[in-house]
Amino acid sequence: MPDAAEQPRWRRDFPIRWDEDNYMTRRELAKFLTLGSGLLVGVNALIAFIGLTRESPAAPVLRIARIVDVAPGGSLLFAYPTADDPCILVRDASGRVDAFSQVCTHLSCAVVHQPGEQSLACPCHKGSFSSVDGRPLAGPPARRLPRIVIEQRGADLVATGIEV
Ligand code: FES
Repeated sequence: MPDAAEQPRWRRDFPIRWDEDNYMTRRELAKFLTLGSGLLVGVNALIAFIGLTRESPAAPVLRIARIVDVAPGGSLLFAYPTADDPCILVRDASGRVDAFSQVCTHLSCAVVHQPGEQSLACPCHKGSFSSVDGRPLAGPPARRLPRIVIEQRGADLVATGIEV
């Protein structure tokens, strides 16, 4: 270190001991790591608590269509529970009505009805689902399509919930 007389005046007035500033004891490091870890555990526990205690909003009751709007063997696209959730309703030849999310459980392409095959096909990777219960029949999808609960109320088809 240069002599005090060789140092600029500002350094003499405000001496800085860099070696002491950057020195951290093992005890300080252990304290920092312990407090940091404790803080992370506390925040994660708080997030988990909020996630477990928060109630999910009730599924809305939504009129989808009139039963006569879907011909036997046909299908109808709709959105449920929000406008951003595409779904497909299928009416088989006997008149039975089933509805599912239209979002493929593989990589989220839209499934389409295969009339006469009782299936919903995903064109992206040749996936296929049963149009009766939504279970995967072929291709990469491993999970069934979420079912939309449909009730017939008079002449109307009404969505009342989702079964995942
Ligand atoms: S996205 Fe449907 S099979 Fe891959």
